[in-house]
Order: sequence, then structure tokens, then C-alpha cells
Amino acid sequence: EGKVTVKELANKLDISTNELIGKLIGIGIMANINQELDEDTTELIASEYGFEIREAKTLEERQEEELDFEDSEENLVLRPPVVTVMGHVDHGKTSLLDSIRESHVTQREAGGITQHIGASTVNINGNKIVFLDTPGHEAFTSMRARGAQVTDVAILVVAADDGVMPQTIEAINHAKAANVPIIVAINKMDKPEANPDRVKQELTEHGLVPEDWGGDVITVPVSAIKKEGLDELLEMILLVSEMSELKANPNRKAVGTIIEAELDKGRGPVATVLIQKGTLRIGDSIIAGTASGRVRAMIDSYGKRVKKASPSTAVEILGLSEVPQAGDKLFAAKDDKKARELADQRKEQIKRDQIKSKQNISLDDLFDQI
Ligand code: GTP
Ligand code: MG
Repeated sequence: EGKVTVKELANKLDISTNELIGKLIGIGIMANINQELDEDTTELIASEYGFEIREAKTLEERQEEELDFEDSEENLVLRPPVVTVMGHVDHGKTSLLDSIRESHVTQREAGGITQHIGASTVNINGNKIVFLDTPGHEAFTSMRARGAQVTDVAILVVAADDGVMPQTIEAINHAKAANVPIIVAINKMDKPEANPDRVKQELTEHGLVPEDWGGDVITVPVSAIKKEGLDELLEMILLVSEMSELKANPNRKAVGTIIEAELDKGRGPVATVLIQKGTLRIGDSIIAGTASGRVRAMIDSYGKRVKKASPSTAVEILGLSEVPQAGDKLFAAKDDKKARELADQRKEQIKRDQIKSKQNISLDDLFDQI
């Protein structure tokens, strides 16, 4: 990947191949003009001539430049925070999400049915918070591996009777790497063995110093089972997100990230997408990964059919040609033709990469035989 031959490099640097071969000999490399140079060597030589090696842009990067753009400050408006819940096994992540949903998503909103779309929206005095069901670790690793960041605030659940455990530490590291503020929910406070001070002590040892210990980390004692402390937790989420001034431009073509996706027998490819910029509308031409299509229907986290989705809204969408992957970015394109063309380019690229890696394998096999 990205390797150049002596001839190509000489051309790029605008020097003769002889001069370059001489240079290479000078650093102990005997090369002919068709030889590929490793990246370190290329960089070293280029820098001697005052050049800097830039990674060539990938197809996706080039396409994204076509589909996405930076919004100017005056077009940005506040948007709700997107929250993921992380923590050690059995510390109560699912219970906490369930309790929040049960106590803060009204029946009327839910329309009596519990629709699972991988995200839920909670309404607190007119302020919305979006919770992603994707376990925080996955959300961070798989999405970040694809350059997507969906989380604004991480809730770190630590069981008060168990304290900081290996996956707690992992979660702290993920959130820190992603530069996402952490709020600690000290859960299972109803248990007689609950020891919040021990939790705070252990958090401090891992660089999270609680506010009441002179640090800046908000901790909230909760009981997911008894539904205690939930209001305080939600208030703290709103407080922290207010400080982050989360904004997006709702008046443009949508950009989002696929949260989860599957092939539904009756409905075809179904994807939950978190809208991050712009507004997605029924009929919009879209591309996500190698899938393209037109938004045929949208269902919000209350299970209601909707016609549009604005920033920080999670919706289930129908109409994609195939099932995209979690973490794929979704873009609304100019028209169907554009979306399909870009998706086709991506498919071609994948094919080419596959052929290339096969060729590399057979070449290696060949060298083994000699
Ligand atoms: P994994 O998804 O397996 O990592 O677990 P989790 O973090 O989602 O934990 P889950 O919500 O499944 O809870 C694990 C166990 O702890 C269950 O038996 C819950 O009933 C119990 N539990 C969760 N929250 C509380 C709480 O506030 N108090 C008490 N007493 N038990 C709780
Ligand atoms: Mg769980």
C-alpha cells in the first residue's frame, strides 16, 4: 500500500533516477529503478529534498468531501446530547437504561408498544437526551475504528458493591481516548454492601477524581432496581452537555452514523441511523457503506412513523439496497444516481483490494517456493 518505485519517487522529486540511486547507496540501499521503496525510506529521502509525504486520500475520504462540508457557525443550533452507557459486566448497564426508559418515556409517546430501534429518547422538561442501546465499548471501538464518533457523554456504571473492575478501566480509557466527558453512576446503592466511598477511592486511583473529593468528575449514586437517583443522573447529563455546547446545522442534507442494521424478512434492509447533521427526509437519496437507496420510511424511537429526522435523532430507515455495517456513515446525496454511483465506486474499490491481496498472497507463495 502506498509504496513507490525508485523511478516514481525520482519523478515526484524532479531529480534524475541516477541521483536518487546515488542517494540510496549513501544510506546503504542498493536499488534499481523499478524497485519499490519502503515508506520510511521514501519519507527520509523526500524530506531531504524538502518534501513531506502525505497519505493519499482514500476513496471514502474523497467521496466524503463531496458529500459533507463544514457548517459555518451562524447556521449551528443546539442539539440534544447522545449518551452511551459503559461499565463492567453485571454492574447494571441494561437495568439502568431500562429504568430510565420505563420512568421517563411515557406510554403516550411509546404508543403502547415497545419498539426496539437501538436508541431511546428521554424528555426532561422539554430537554431531550438520546440514549444508545449499543454497549458503550462496542459503540466506541467499532465506530471509532471507522472514524465515527457518536457519543457526547459516557455514563460509567460502577456497582457500589463491586467497585472498579477491569472493564470499568477499559471504559474509562475508551472515553478518555475519544475525549468524551464521563459521568459516573454509582449503581446498586440499595444493596447493604454498597460502599460508594470505596468506589470513589478506586476511581481516583484511575484518574477520575470525584467532585466531592476536590476533582471535576460528577458521580451520582443510583439504584437501577429501585429507580432511585435517576432524575439527578439525567440532570447531570443535561448539565454536562450544556457545557459542551453541542450544536449542528439542521438545514442541510443529512449526515449520520449507522448504529445497527439487519436484514428483515418482510421489510428488507433495516438500519438505525443517528442523524448528526442536517435533516433526513422521506424520499432522500442516501448512501451508507456500499448500500444506497432512497428513504422509503422512517420510524422514530417511540415506534412512530415520521417524515423527517433532525440532528441527534435516531430513526430506523427502510429503503437501502443492502445491509450497511454499524459505524458506517450515512449521507444524503444529491439524487439516486449520485448515491448509486458512489456506492458502486466503493464496491469496485473493495473488489480491487480483494484482488490485490490475493495477488500478494500468490506472490508470497511463489517466493516461498524459490
Ligand atoms: P452485562 O450486559 O452482562 O454486562 O450486564 P449489565 O451491566 O447490563 O447488568 P444488568 O443490568 O444485566 O444487571 C446485572 C444484575 O445486577 C442483574 O441481576 C440486575 O438485576 C442486578 N442489578 C442491576 N442494577 C441493580 C441495582 O440497582 N440494585 C440491585 N440490587 N441489583 C441490580
Ligand atoms: Mg447488559
